[in-house]
Parts: sequence; C-alpha cells; structure tokens
Amino acid sequence: MIRINENYTKLKASYLFADIAKRVTAYVTANPDKPVIRLGIGDVTEPLPAACVKALHAATDEMAQRSTFKGYGPEQGYGFLREAVAQHDYAARGCRIEPDEIFISDGSKCDCANIQEIFATDLRLAIPDPVYPVYVDTNVMAGRTGPNVDGRYEGILYLESTQANGYVPAVPTAAADLIYLCFPNNPTGAVATREQLSAWVAYAKANRAILLFDSAYEAYIRDPAIPHSIYEIEGARDVAIEFRSFSKTAGFTGTRCAYTVVPRSLKAWDAAGGEHSVHALWNRRHTTKFNGVAYPIQKAAAAIFTEDGKVQTRALTDFYLANARLIREAMGRLGFPYVGGDNAPYIWVNTGRDSWEFFDLMLDRAQVVCTPGAGFGKCGEGHARISAFNSRENVERALVRIAAALR
Ligand code: MLT
Repeated sequence: MIRINENYTKLKASYLFADIAKRVTAYVTANPDKPVIRLGIGDVTEPLPAACVKALHAATDEMAQRSTFKGYGPEQGYGFLREAVAQHDYAARGCRIEPDEIFISDGSKCDCANIQEIFATDLRLAIPDPVYPVYVDTNVMAGRTGPNVDGRYEGILYLESTQANGYVPAVPTAAADLIYLCFPNNPTGAVATREQLSAWVAYAKANRAILLFDSAYEAYIRDPAIPHSIYEIEGARDVAIEFRSFSKTAGFTGTRCAYTVVPRSLKAWDAAGGEHSVHALWNRRHTTKFNGVAYPIQKAAAAIFTEDGKVQTRALTDFYLANARLIREAMGRLGFPYVGGDNAPYIWVNTGRDSWEFFDLMLDRAQVVCTPGAGFGKCGEGHARISAFNSRENVERALVRIAAALR
C-alpha cells in the first residue's frame, strides 16, 4: 500500500496565495460586472526593462544558429551571469563573494524551500512571525515540526515581529540552529539596520548556527544606511546563506531567474561532530536536482547589470515605490497605522479588526484584493499587507475605492 508523507497532513489545506486566488476567482465568477484590482500577491505588472528584452532577443537568435546554439548549461549558472552578480551586487558594496559561490536558479521561492533539505531534520528552527509562508510550510513538510496548535507549529521558535520591536525581531535568548530572516521584510516592509544584522551574525556565530537571509526586495532600499546584503556585515560569510531574485528587481516573476549565495567558508556539522562544507552539499543537491536556467533568460538577467539595465531597473523599482507612497498616504488619511512602503514594495496596515474580515470587506465593497495578515502567522492577525505592484492607474483607482469603502 502506497503511503503518504504524513507531515503534509499537518499543513493548512492550501498555500496562502492559492487560497486567496481561489476566493478571488469565486468572487469574480459571481460578480462578472465588478472588475477586481489585485494588490494581494506581489506580482509585477510592468514590462521587462528594454535592455533585458534586447538581450533575450539576441540570445534567442543565438539558439537558432548551429554555431551558437546551447544545450545543457552549467547547473550553477553561466559564468557571465555569476561574474556579473559577484561584481555588481557584491564587490560594488564591498562584499567578498566569488562567482563560484553564486548558484543561479529559477526562483528564490524554490531555493528558500529547498535549502532546508541539506540540514538535519531534528535541528532547532527559528522563524519570524509574520513570515513568508514558504519557510514554515517546507519545514513542516520535511517533518521538523509537530502539529499546528492554535496557529503555531510545535517545534518552531517563533521570532515575533510586532509594533513593539519595530517589526525587527531581536536575537532570542534560546539557541537555534537554522534561522530565517528576510529584509526588506515580506510581509511588513520593515528593514534591519547594520546593528540589528550584526547582532544576528554574532548570535549565529555563538550558536554555530546558519542564517538564511532572504533579500529578494533589496532593490527597494532607498535609505543609504540600510545594508542590502547580509555580507555587508563582518563575519557573515561564515554563518549566512543569501537568497536574491530578479523577480521584483527587474520584473522577472514570469521570466524566472534568481540566485543563492553559499560562501565556501560556511560550515555545518554531522552528528559525530565532523565538519562539512555547506557549499559542497548545496552544489551536490543543485547539480543532482536542477538543470540550470535557460540560456536566453540568463542573458536577459545579465543585461540588468549593464549601464542601460541599471537605469531601467532603478526606474522600475522607483515606479513601484511611488505606488507604495500613494498607498501609505491614503492609509494615513484613513487613519490606519502602517509600516513599510518606503524601502519595500509592501505596506503593512494595522486594520484594527480580524484580517480575513478586512480582506472580505475590501473585496466585497472595494473590489480590491489585499493579503490578510493572519495568512503570514499569528502576529499578522489584525493586519493586512497591501502590495504596490500594479499600474499607477489601478493603484489610484483602488485607493479611491478603498476610501469610499472604509470611510
Ligand atoms: C508575495 O506576494 O509574498 C510574493 O510575491 C510571493 C513570492 O514571491 O513567491
């Protein structure tokens, strides 16, 4: 008799954004005359930067010629993209990251989800609350948690991000082995200072732990004092893995390209105390289970780092940040406390009521989709996340509707 991985039965029936999509589809089907504006999932709406499109076309033409055609590429990514990332995303910020420490992939969601499988199943986990649900769900699937009791899985040390700590959790007194951090934060939009990140690096060192640092939204940082990478912090090479994505930086959600940095100096241990290279483990996993990102897509991603690409991607993130400012101002006028939206494309609104009730109210009365805070964890209750990813026209229209619905 074929048996299932029973850890899956501990999960909520569906993934947060799948659940929301189902509810929105049901609403749209029942109300075909009421067009819905989506400020829920962080999916970009603006076209790819011209430099990326040009590179994509040129690479596609290469694939049409025998002399330039490419079959399987290196699983870890082509040298031209790994080198561009090392130079522009790291060396330019004073971080020492070598091209062969960069693993190109088809998305940070997959990398954040997959990384846990190279670590022990009985390790001590620390995960923020509220949080991007992938970090929690993938550890539940792997059997690292007990059942969900009152909205929390047994076996996870939850790092609460609340108004009281400015939505940046302080290092806990208890020890953890694997710690997830995300800055600029999804869902709150909060950013961490150099001092706060330094405390996490020191904590990881003291506990021989690893930080999994998701910086998918770093391109939205405008405050020059805020680090873009964990490797801007002294000693982070020995304790941190970083995830980056071109999805929100350059509109690649449908194009698919991201990368994960695993420094060669990063170590983890077996039960007998033997030391292992995490880079070697991830390389083993990546080469066994992944066949690389399409050549034209990697060429398009490399174009982000050209002079034209840099100007165009900056304009793209500026555009969404201007949407975020409109949302922040509108929420303020309506009297809702909020954070985020200044160094991140998400605004975290204190709704003062049940978050799914707020979601339903926004959908029914304003035909605007947001993301209920409770979907990100217990601390998200009473909050909603509003995404700045949409056209200016749709954001403006949504804000007029929200004002009418909530006044
Ligand atoms: C989000 O809305 O949180 C993100 O778009 C989800 C993702 O990047 O997978």
